Amino acid sequence: MLLRKLLFVCICSMTAIYALAQSNEPALMPYPERATWVAGKYRITDRLQASLVCDQKDDILSASANRVFQGINRKTGIYFRQAMLTPGKDIPGASLRIIARQKAEFTRGMDESYTLRVNAEGIQLDAANSIGAIRGLETLQQMLMQDAEGFYVPFADIVDKPRYSWRGLMIDVSRHFIPLDVLKRNIDAMATVKMNVLHLHLTDDEGFRIESKSMPQLHQKGSDGQYFTQEEMKGLIAYARLRGIMIVPEFDMPGHTRSWFAGYPEMASAPGPYTPGPRFTLSDKDTAINIAAIMSAPTPTIDPTREDVYKLIDKFLTEMATLFPSPYMHIGADENNGAAWRQNPKIKAFMEQKGMKDTHSLQAYFVSRLYTILRKNKKTMIGWEELYGPELAKDVTVQKWIPEGGFMKTAGKADAIAEGGNPVLISTGFYTDLFMPAYIHYNNPNLPDAVHPNLWGGEAAQWTEIADARNIETRIWPRAAAIAERLWSPASRKDPEDMYNRLFSVSRQLDEQGLQHTSAYESGVRRLAGNGDPSALRTLADVLTPLKGYKNLFSRFSQPARLANNRAPLVSLCDIIPVDSEIKRRFRNNVAAYLSSRDPAKAAEIRIQLRTWESNHARLMRDASLRHAASPIAKHSENLSKLSAAGLRAMDLLEKGSTMPEEEMKSLQLLFTEARKQSAETELDIVGEIESLVKQKLLPEPAQYPLF
Ligand code: ACM
Repeated sequence: MLLRKLLFVCICSMTAIYALAQSNEPALMPYPERATWVAGKYRITDRLQASLVCDQKDDILSASANRVFQGINRKTGIYFRQAMLTPGKDIPGASLRIIARQKAEFTRGMDESYTLRVNAEGIQLDAANSIGAIRGLETLQQMLMQDAEGFYVPFADIVDKPRYSWRGLMIDVSRHFIPLDVLKRNIDAMATVKMNVLHLHLTDDEGFRIESKSMPQLHQKGSDGQYFTQEEMKGLIAYARLRGIMIVPEFDMPGHTRSWFAGYPEMASAPGPYTPGPRFTLSDKDTAINIAAIMSAPTPTIDPTREDVYKLIDKFLTEMATLFPSPYMHIGADENNGAAWRQNPKIKAFMEQKGMKDTHSLQAYFVSRLYTILRKNKKTMIGWEELYGPELAKDVTVQKWIPEGGFMKTAGKADAIAEGGNPVLISTGFYTDLFMPAYIHYNNPNLPDAVHPNLWGGEAAQWTEIADARNIETRIWPRAAAIAERLWSPASRKDPEDMYNRLFSVSRQLDEQGLQHTSAYESGVRRLAGNGDPSALRTLADVLTPLKGYKNLFSRFSQPARLANNRAPLVSLCDIIPVDSEIKRRFRNNVAAYLSSRDPAKAAEIRIQLRTWESNHARLMRDASLRHAASPIAKHSENLSKLSAAGLRAMDLLEKGSTMPEEEMKSLQLLFTEARKQSAETELDIVGEIESLVKQKLLPEPAQYPLF
């Protein structure tokens, strides 16, 4: 008994030491499968000597190792005696040893594991192959820390491998063209968080964004001149390859094809002429009417009944199969409501003749024809979940995106589809264009707990109806890092506060590496402020968040066409602000700590923040330029001041041991309701935290938010 007690005490004190060590942990994201932190620091000095133990021709590992080495060099500012790492044999006495036992290219399902050990002797990264080694190098880069004496890597023992083999990011380059430099920065950020698939949505109604030599009118007439040449795409594929990332192209068919028909109207199921542009414009403010219109409107759709159409598709896909080395090709197949087909008598006759009972059967027929073309080209088909059905070949991967709840019929549960034999990718709950905070993506309930071998993983998805080259980085990052962690780290790692504590560090790392998610926001605020002091506008913008769900998109669609089309400038506050506010998270943590412990240091921090917000409205209103910039969100500004005054008063009361009088609480309740209303597609994102102060109890954050 005594022994057991002793053992218990021992374990408790070990846990305490571990917890202490943990607070000095580097902000790793995605967090490794297993990490043991041991007291001790390996100091980085100019004597650091690295040895790259791998195949001499391993260009992937060599490029990554040098990039990370230079990253460490840049961060520390130390002149390393060794300028470059050359792949080859072990250098005796090297303090940083990077070992890849086999040269490898990225393929889905490969071994991406590595181990990383840091102790007094140095740093050793060991992987079965080049790709595992480059994943480990990213961990190493995030482990570089700083204290009063300088830079170090904490002693550690890390054993790591991904939970899922497919950790993707989809970028729609059609609605708004997203140029190469932006895609490259996204690829760099993906590599940092160990994502491995960039899915490019290359064609849609608004633009055909890839050069076709066999059918040149596709890009010539189907775009506004903004498309990737084949040479450019080859360069991008090579850039991604060196970072262990595969580019998977999507050519969305049979719907979402208006841009195809600009050059090849004969492929359409209704006569042209066609020009690239949105499928529809919504004229109503009512969401239900808008959804009904989308579900039933005839939109440009390929005619699936004609052999000459399949000849053209075959020609194009065969050309693309050579351009893109990935073994996967995405054919879209989403959101075809069948209305265009039902309006064409020839198509209806075809369906009758073939005994097809509905347009889903006709779509299944279309998909089966494309499947044959892809098989001939040795490509594995992927499609959005609308292509799923009993007749679908079992080697077609189904990408889920439709939220449960009825606005569209889903293909079914991910594990049921996986159980039935088709590989599955999850994007439901990972749509970054829906403006959900990172914690919502992080605890995405659409990702089943048990990992079925057919569940390959998932993809963050960024559509670009209301995102463009200037704001897309702020839209995707840093939230995609939380998704990357969900797809890499064990399911048991799910505490949102722990995630947020690391997310903003990773965000700073991405900023330092050149990603423009933060700088685009900052420059957007400066632009809006005109000649006024941008810091006043920034103080307010820092606690605003874009309106969540499809509400933002729908409100744009129902604006005059001049504003709704994809040339409209995306320059309002709702376009430029990030979704997650670091100031809000810090304030929330402080409120939580203050309410539970009355910590005077936290109280002081909270008061400083509240006073800043309280006086900010007057600062904004004093300057004409700022008044103009803030006019669409003046209500938020005013409410932030009022809320902050209430927060300060609540703290005074709390510290005197009393609570808010009933009458005052009643009027504050009205203020909380008022302050939660949206203005100009933005919401004030700090109401719950101030309400928590007033009610002397931390209010939980919603587990989900409505989409409409
Ligand atoms: C989709 O969002 N239509 C795949």
